[in-house]
Amino acid sequence: MIELLNINKTFWVDQKEVHAVKDVNLHIQKAEIFGVIGFSGAGKSTLVRSINLLERPTSGQVIIDGVDITRLSDKELRNLRQSIGMIFQHFNLMPSRTVFENIDLPLKRTGISKAERVKKIEELLELVELKDKAQAYPNQLSGGQKQRVAIARALACSPKILLCDEATSALDPKTTNSILKLLKDLNEKLKLTIVVITHQMSVVKDICDRAALMENGRVIETNTVYNLFSHPNVESSKDFIEMAGNKNAFIEVLNKKNELSYIKKDIPIYLLTYTGDATGQALMSKLYALFKVEANILFGNIDYIKDKPLGQLAVQLSGENENIEKALEYIKEQKIDLEVLR
Ligand SMILES: Nc1ncnc2c1ncn2[C@@H]1O[C@H](COP(=O)(O)OP(=O)(O)O)[C@@H](O)[C@H]1O
Ligand SMILES: [Mg+2]
Repeated sequence: MIELLNINKTFWVDQKEVHAVKDVNLHIQKAEIFGVIGFSGAGKSTLVRSINLLERPTSGQVIIDGVDITRLSDKELRNLRQSIGMIFQHFNLMPSRTVFENIDLPLKRTGISKAERVKKIEELLELVELKDKAQAYPNQLSGGQKQRVAIARALACSPKILLCDEATSALDPKTTNSILKLLKDLNEKLKLTIVVITHQMSVVKDICDRAALMENGRVIETNTVYNLFSHPNVESSKDFIEMAGNKNAFIEVLNKKNELSYIKKDIPIYLLTYTGDATGQALMSKLYALFKVEANILFGNIDYIKDKPLGQLAVQLSGENENIEKALEYIKEQKIDLEVLR
């Protein structure tokens, strides 16, 4: 559906070259929710803005449904842009226009009749659950409601693709969840292809099927979200995910304080990462039942990625040395990742 081939984008700032996007290749499938993640400045916005040529790549091809859109005429490009909606962190609504008028703006450009526009706007307001706000002005709305208006406006011309640039970054967690749920519903109902840029890990975990991780303009890994979080292929993906996740909090404490009363000094700390149906609790009982090895749990966390559990436990093991060896072997056999933290 969307193919980005060898995309590069350079900006010139004060006669210095900024290489914002470097040799990016991506394939985004129809009706998937695809995430683009990475730290601020990684090149996410620049890359995603190349999908509708808001940012024209310095080199490379942007192919949408088989058509290289970098070769379209201005008129063809204007038409194409109607099939790609976009929403932003700060909503970008017209403050002097009502909700109704904001949604009407892109519709007016299509040349359809007033009656058809009114009907369409009513449908859109219903879709985003804002029927009673048609005559309100943006400053009379909450952040979540403003983003719903922006979504309705982005969908006005029935696009095939919706680009979301940090669309929930200015919202509180509860409102974020309701917007994510709306995006998920739209994806299912309308078979809408959605590209989500975010620096919020929770957003990616909640709604994305696959994601690309960017660093310094490059895509360093493209993977299913579950694999990205449970078994990243690239070492620096792992760093990013740990930084953005929970394990780091524990390691930070561990690094800061050499001695913690509940950590035994001279034995290793293991970090176990388990996916799917394995549970930490059952494993710990098994280690005792099979090997008489006791596990002292120092840290535990369970994350849900698209409703599938991903657990982590930091433990120290005590028992006969020989039995601990066997227990470690057993853990590896269970397809649990085992890492020595210290
Ligand atoms: N219009 C622009 N002019 C000059 N430099 C830009 C422009 N847009 C982005 N950049 C630079 O490109 C790099 C990537 O920016 P951006 O795509 O916004 O990253 P992200 O969205 O991941 O935070 C940054 O170094 C940024 O300063
Ligand atoms: Mg950005």
